[in-house]
Amino acid sequence: MEIVRTIPSLRRMLDAHRCAGGTVGLVPTMGYLHEGHQSLMERSAAETDLTVSTVFVNPLQFAPGEDLDAYPSDPDGDASTAEAAGTDLLFMPEGQEMYPTPPQTTVTVGAIAEPLEGASRPTFFAGVATVVAKLFAIAGPCRAYFGEKDFQQLLVVRQLAHDLSLPVAVVGCAIVREPDGLAMSSRNAYLQGADRAAASVLQRALLHGAALVDAGETDVDVVRQAIEGVVGAEPRADLDYVAVVAAATLLPPGPDVTELRLLIAAQVGPARLIDNIGATRTAAS
Ligand code: PAJ
Repeated sequence: MEIVRTIPSLRRMLDAHRCAGGTVGLVPTMGYLHEGHQSLMERSAAETDLTVSTVFVNPLQFAPGEDLDAYPSDPDGDASTAEAAGTDLLFMPEGQEMYPTPPQTTVTVGAIAEPLEGASRPTFFAGVATVVAKLFAIAGPCRAYFGEKDFQQLLVVRQLAHDLSLPVAVVGCAIVREPDGLAMSSRNAYLQGADRAAASVLQRALLHGAALVDAGETDVDVVRQAIEGVVGAEPRADLDYVAVVAAATLLPPGPDVTELRLLIAAQVGPARLIDNIGATRTAAS
């Protein structure tokens, strides 16, 4: 594995690779890599000829007062983890390389970016979309791997690639979890002791909601309230939102919509956590 620090050198390597007939897989991350990130890299390594993973803590997607300065970092550990997961090139640019001057161009995605995380963190998706558009422009034609852990982000990135005709196929990958069901996240490093134990309530609540849908419950408000009830019983979890929405649009589902997504965001101690699960509703008769 080779570590690459500049945009021109990464471009040159990827162009040469494609000229020789090879395909490229791209795995954007903010580092402090865990098995969730690794699963994306492994899938890319299995499906493409050359995997480039990126580690860049993107300041544009942190609002003032969020955890930009505290965001965990371990460049040496990341290099070992990325290499073990099949990464060929690890792009680790400095802030100066990505943003030599404050960017005057922002990519804003519309309706799909507005509810849920977009409502709770109003500048977040513009920051994500801008850096992802930049990474896509740097990488060129490729398959790009994103986790369903950040389900709305996956849909936002897919919309961005579609709307701007970017030569990138966006691939969604399943959520990787800890043994107690907590979705893996770099931010789990903030959790200690009782907070860490309490954090598994997010998945437990979602599983309860999905089981209701599986059992034939079609009223999304009933499902949402049931999920809220499970989280409400955990005093260490402070709920931000629970949503039971159409998986394709993240909007309240019309009667014909069967593919649902159940999403949750909650503060547990010092960590803001998100999680989600799919469920298929019985078609209304
Ligand atoms: P980060 O949180 O580091 O996540 C990088 C990628 O790993 C994202 O696509 C995310 O969905 C995926 N991922 C994280 N935890 C996962 C898990 N438990 N299972 C499966 N996939 C998981 O998301 C970002 O960084 C940034 O917003 C980024 C897209 C890199 C733009 O800065």
